[in-house]
Amino acid sequence: MKVMAFIGSPRRDGNTAKIVNAICKGAKESGHEVDVYNLSEMNHQGCIACDACQLEKVDFCSMDDKLTKLFPQIVKADYLIVGTPIYMLQVSGVTKNFLDRFRPFLKPDLTAKHLPGKKYITVTCSGAPAAAFSNVTEYLNQLFGYFGMENAGNIIVGDLNERDDMIRQSEILEEAENMGKKLS
Ligand SMILES: Cc1cc2nc3c(=O)[nH]c(=O)nc-3n(C[C@H](O)[C@H](O)[C@H](O)COP(=O)(O)O)c2cc1C
Repeated sequence: MKVMAFIGSPRRDGNTAKIVNAICKGAKESGHEVDVYNLSEMNHQGCIACDACQLEKVDFCSMDDKLTKLFPQIVKADYLIVGTPIYMLQVSGVTKNFLDRFRPFLKPDLTAKHLPGKKYITVTCSGAPAAAFSNVTEYLNQLFGYFGMENAGNIIVGDLNERDDMIRQSEILEEAENMGKKLS
């Protein structure tokens, strides 16, 4: 299967990256094709509301950037993994800009296209205890559900402040790797 993973933290090899990479390690071990993208390095803007996708003037998006070039691959993917740190009570800005750019996956009547039937996994990391931000995972589940996608797992981790704090929660990294091994 084709897996695309998106890391929404500007912190290289931070907590979010460690969990997403653990899932990807497991997926690769099980023979899946995995591509990982660091959203902070894509320099993508949010949606500019030109409506070109809704008016079906373009295949995907009028914006000429790396994210638009990825859309055809997203359409071919079986799995999307989206990891984000919690920033100011929500997903990070680069993650929100990424999600706002999913408008080409809606038809003009606002029903979903291209993504229905694909599976997704979410990862969130916060400084506060995990339970404090289950609402952000609920938001992501609602959003991907709106796109007709199937939930294949949510990893919610808290008590993570320094870049390497995730190493202290090795049982969650093992859980993430196992999740990746079992993708189906
Ligand atoms: C700009 C900014 C805003 C943050 N806002 C919150 C927050 O609202 N709640 C929280 O619990 N942690 C917050 N944090 C802490 C991060 O969510 C936490 O350190 C997370 O583990 C970072 O993940 P990373 O290592 O992948 O970047 C914030 C961190 C930054 C840099």
